[in-house]
Amino acid sequence: MRKTVWITGAGKGIGRALALHMAREGWSVAASARTVEDLTSLAVEGEAGRIHVFALDVTDLDATQKTIVKIEGELGPIDMAILNAGTHVAMSAENFSVATFRKLVDVNLMGPVNGLGVLLPLFRVRGRGHIAVVASVAGYRGLPTSSAYGATKAALINMCEALKPELVRDGIDLSLINPGFVETPLTEKNKFPMPFLISAEEAATTIYKGLINKKFEISFPWTFVLLLKLMRLLPYRLFFFLTSRMVTP
Ligand SMILES: NC(=O)c1ccc[n+]([C@@H]2O[C@H](COP(=O)([O-])OP(=O)(O)OC[C@H]3O[C@@H](n4cnc5c(N)ncnc54)[C@H](OP(=O)(O)O)[C@@H]3O)[C@@H](O)[C@H]2O)c1
Repeated sequence: MRKTVWITGAGKGIGRALALHMAREGWSVAASARTVEDLTSLAVEGEAGRIHVFALDVTDLDATQKTIVKIEGELGPIDMAILNAGTHVAMSAENFSVATFRKLVDVNLMGPVNGLGVLLPLFRVRGRGHIAVVASVAGYRGLPTSSAYGATKAALINMCEALKPELVRDGIDLSLINPGFVETPLTEKNKFPMPFLISAEEAATTIYKGLINKKFEISFPWTFVLLLKLMRLLPYRLFFFLTSRMVTP
């Protein structure tokens, strides 16, 4: 029987590439984002009849609850949920903004939290289900201009590490997706060099392979991940020596 995946942030970038990839692999895809036109064009571009539009703002818990009920009513139980919707705003210390911080927390952190809040009780009763949370390698350590974005992603990483053992006990699979730089509308606006940049399609292929193998952390590209994981081991003196070079004079 065809399996159902719910993907948030499916209108553009990584979420869109994943939706198309999984539809090709035979999944029934419930695609969510706020911009209906993006979702409609996605449904047309995907394998015939496999991608279904469920517009949603992930910051709205009530709407998230209703959307999940609607998806399950139309497509049957959700087998996998990929909580991918997110946004990025670079913020220098000079332009530190509470409003920007709150926006990123609402979308990047509370978005996935809202999804988990509805899905976990459902999946626990069923004793099955797979949830994937899209964080970022930017959550590994604090990097200049990333105080808000990085904080939301670090929180997601910590949250997934905390949840994993209990979810294993409950029969629920949890994956944590940590991409490096991926070519999407989100990164299009970046003016700085993006090392090891890969396409959204390459990212989708790697993510899908990791999900099928039920990996906990799906991080890529491996060279960039290795460098950043090594940076996690550095003492502060050395770490700040390196990151101070990323600060514009
Ligand atoms: N691209 C990278 O290099 C990179 C690296 C590491 C991690 N990531 C993470 O990967 C995820 C996807 O990034 P991307 O580069 O594909 O971004 P993107 O190209 O900007 O696409 C983001 C998608 O999320 C949707 N979205 C944004 N806010 C939403 C909200 N409140 N409710 C529902 N949907 C919302 C957007 O559609 P609407 O605006 O129409 O809602 C869009 O479809 C994000 O979590 C991002 O932080 C990206």
